[in-house]
Amino acid sequence: MVGHYSDQKFDDKRYGGFYTQDDIKEIVAYANQRHITVVPEIEMPGHAVAALAAYPEYSCTGGPFEVGKIWGVLDDVFCPKDETFTFLENILSEVIDLFPSKYIHIGGDECPKVRWKACPKCQQRMKTENLKDEHELQSYFIQRIEKFVNAKGRKIIGWDEILEGGLAPNAAVMSWRGTEGGIAAAKEKHYVVMSPGSHCYFDHYQGEPKNEHIAFGGYTPVEKVYSFNPTPKELSADEAQYILGAQANLWTEYIETPSHVEYMIFPRMLALSEVVWGTSNPEKFADFQNRMIQHFDIFDKKGINYSKSIYQITTKVKPSTSGNGILFELKSANNSNGIRYTTDGSNPSSSSIPYSNPIEITKGQTLKAALFENDKQKSATIEQRFYWSNAVGKKITLVHQPHENYSIGGALTLVDGIIGNRSKFGRDWLGFLGKDLNATIDLGKPETINKVTLCVLESQGSWIYFPKKIEVLLSNDGQNFESVAQLNSSEIKEVKGEVVLDVKSMKAQYVKVIATNLGKIQDGNPGAGSEAWLFVDEIGVE
Ligand code: ACM
Ligand code: ZN
Repeated sequence: MVGHYSDQKFDDKRYGGFYTQDDIKEIVAYANQRHITVVPEIEMPGHAVAALAAYPEYSCTGGPFEVGKIWGVLDDVFCPKDETFTFLENILSEVIDLFPSKYIHIGGDECPKVRWKACPKCQQRMKTENLKDEHELQSYFIQRIEKFVNAKGRKIIGWDEILEGGLAPNAAVMSWRGTEGGIAAAKEKHYVVMSPGSHCYFDHYQGEPKNEHIAFGGYTPVEKVYSFNPTPKELSADEAQYILGAQANLWTEYIETPSHVEYMIFPRMLALSEVVWGTSNPEKFADFQNRMIQHFDIFDKKGINYSKSIYQITTKVKPSTSGNGILFELKSANNSNGIRYTTDGSNPSSSSIPYSNPIEITKGQTLKAALFENDKQKSATIEQRFYWSNAVGKKITLVHQPHENYSIGGALTLVDGIIGNRSKFGRDWLGFLGKDLNATIDLGKPETINKVTLCVLESQGSWIYFPKKIEVLLSNDGQNFESVAQLNSSEIKEVKGEVVLDVKSMKAQYVKVIATNLGKIQDGNPGAGSEAWLFVDEIGVE
């Protein structure tokens, strides 16, 4: 796939490959010499289309299937019939012979249940095994595989979905959809590896998305990784002993070369190392950054490709102290004193306005900035366009909070004058999982309102769907709201998520915007059966 998932463009190049048994032995030995244990993952029962394309007899429908050309979660999965278990057990036997690890990862994540619901063999299995729903069938699947792996003297580890429908008795859990699954497993005295999307997904952006190669989404700079705590405070000291550590994940949907792999791993891996050693202190990030920068010389000597995004200019929107507009903060790991900026659209030079304090933004304008040292430009030029409306910088409250993975900037993100990028949605968007946007903006005094605007995003491969409905309500006392405009799902699609709700010249101080989450994703769509993500940005009040 070329470009973003929603573009659906392809380069038609053959993709794939395999390791021979000798390759595997070489990798395992190389790692072992460095005191590293390789844990293989054989994914089941979902993410199975590549296997089913070659062996359609282990599916529910019999196929035929084509190997996926798009990434995502596909509906065709392994059918839990006896032949499938024999097939998977043969593979696991081969894998177990090659990898000496105590744990064998059996996947377990993202398994849609649509095929199982319609499959007579699956439904029969549920009857004979007395299983009340398809989640229990998934649990049956994992427990049966666990028995096999345990009989070979090994243990299974699986993604946190293996908690659904009942955890296999000896299984360890890898918590990726947050830390909640890991907390639940540790409380049940199961071992856990923490790997939440919020801090441990290195396929997310680490620098300003506009200046980075396209990535999956999300914004996880090295400072965020460094702030991770793998033993949440919800756990008692006894329970915390079940946390084995943390893992970073680097899925390669948008990564084609080993050099790009290095770029995504370094230097974030250094931050995660201190986290799992237990020596990190998020309050002393600046100290860590100094230590980290010393490693850059070593990376250079070893020819390791690494991200220098800390030297780029990073930006942050802050609430204004004067109650007017917002503040725009610029920073670089290099001397921030060298930052120069312009507000007239021209490219910054060493004689442009020197940056010292966060810049007050009180109107629509374009700001450009770069870092200079001895008259030489040392960073890429960043460019930020600010859109202006009556809502920018105003007090905003949310009924439901966004998910931790997509909450950078908090509620202010919706009224910061920055319109989120639709193809690189790393930041500037809030993501709500299964929940509605329910935001109230206090304009400070009654204003005449002609229209309210809102941006919503759809990227089905990432389970991000447009809302079912968007509604605007107005009030003068913040208590009694009157509904004044609505848009339904087909109207939202028609405008491609750039929503304008006309309000006929009404006066109000409080503006409430409700975008109703799609809820459970319907069969036949990516993520079917799971809760949809709702991605929203900038609310404008004009
Ligand atoms: C995962 O990222 N699907 C474990
Ligand atoms: Zn089936």
